[in-house]
Amino acid sequence: MIVLGIESSCDETGVALVKDGKKILSNVVSSSLKLHSKYGGVIPEIASRCQLEAISGVCQQAFMEAKITPQQVDLICVTQKPGLPGSLIVGIAFAKALSISLNKPLLGVDHVASHIYANFLCHSKIKFPAVALVVSGGHTSIFYLKDLSRMILLGETRDDACGEAFDKVAKIMNLGYPGGPLIEKLAAKGTFKRIKFPSANTDNKLDFSFSGIKTAVLYYLRKKKLTQSLKRLVAASFQETVIDTLIAKTLLACKQKKARQLLIGGGVAANNRLRSRFIQECAQAKIKCFFPEKNLCMDNAAMVAGLGTKLYACGKREEGLSIDW
Ligand code: KG4
Ligand code: ZN
Repeated sequence: MIVLGIESSCDETGVALVKDGKKILSNVVSSSLKLHSKYGGVIPEIASRCQLEAISGVCQQAFMEAKITPQQVDLICVTQKPGLPGSLIVGIAFAKALSISLNKPLLGVDHVASHIYANFLCHSKIKFPAVALVVSGGHTSIFYLKDLSRMILLGETRDDACGEAFDKVAKIMNLGYPGGPLIEKLAAKGTFKRIKFPSANTDNKLDFSFSGIKTAVLYYLRKKKLTQSLKRLVAASFQETVIDTLIAKTLLACKQKKARQLLIGGGVAANNRLRSRFIQECAQAKIKCFFPEKNLCMDNAAMVAGLGTKLYACGKREEGLSIDW
């Protein structure tokens, strides 16, 4: 089965062709990232205008790279929610138009679930039940997965998402956008010395809160000269505190649910320090921990096509062109 995936939930425009939910034939992503960097975050109006201009060309390139024709597609899947409304509309409208013109079925796919599915594009030995952690620019959520169509939310952020906290701390230190990779780079050059930043308590032990640590960084840096060594120290201390929190809560979820498989996804999952710390801690707790390849941690359409393939096989259908964001 050949499935066309479309992803346009934030600043990326992605189109991919995936065979049998596993084999990526093409996975093209165009980003308007550079246009947002001077604002320190994504400007929705700019993102959706760029997506409108890019989507047709990205789609053509995806077909060219996969060396297949549109008529060979069996199913069209599109990110339905959550995301920026203007951006989602572009992808959904394009998907609907393709579905009508090619006379192929259309399926809406959840963006957060597709980040988890990215693991299945890279690994074949994942078993259920599992716990999943999604850490992205818009989400920080822990799920219990009975299987791919039955996900139970166990905890989520009460305020900023994890990636958003990286972006905001980077902005405080004038590093640029997106902040995650820049903080990671600085942190890697930090010393063993650490500033003790707070990690917030939440009523539900599996919920997260990252706005406090962002404010703590802001206050810590007030009236200080922002030298390179201070930036490294703050980046390393912030990153380590965030990773400690993610590990503690995710492993607690695994313990509560007696899950021995952990799937991690989303842009922040590309962070090397996060990956190695999770692998280390999971090995001690005898939990098998999976990450997607780094390029599949970021927003892309292969994960949308992949998850759509599985959901379609489980019987999920849309009524006509009823999907909306
Ligand atoms: O999943 P994603 O591409 O888009 C959303 O669905 O939000 O994630 C983007 C987020 C940004 O906040 C970015 O700063 C963060 O992922 N990110 C990272 C790294 N690479 C991207 N955070 C920490 N370390 C990284 N290496
Ligand atoms: Zn995402």
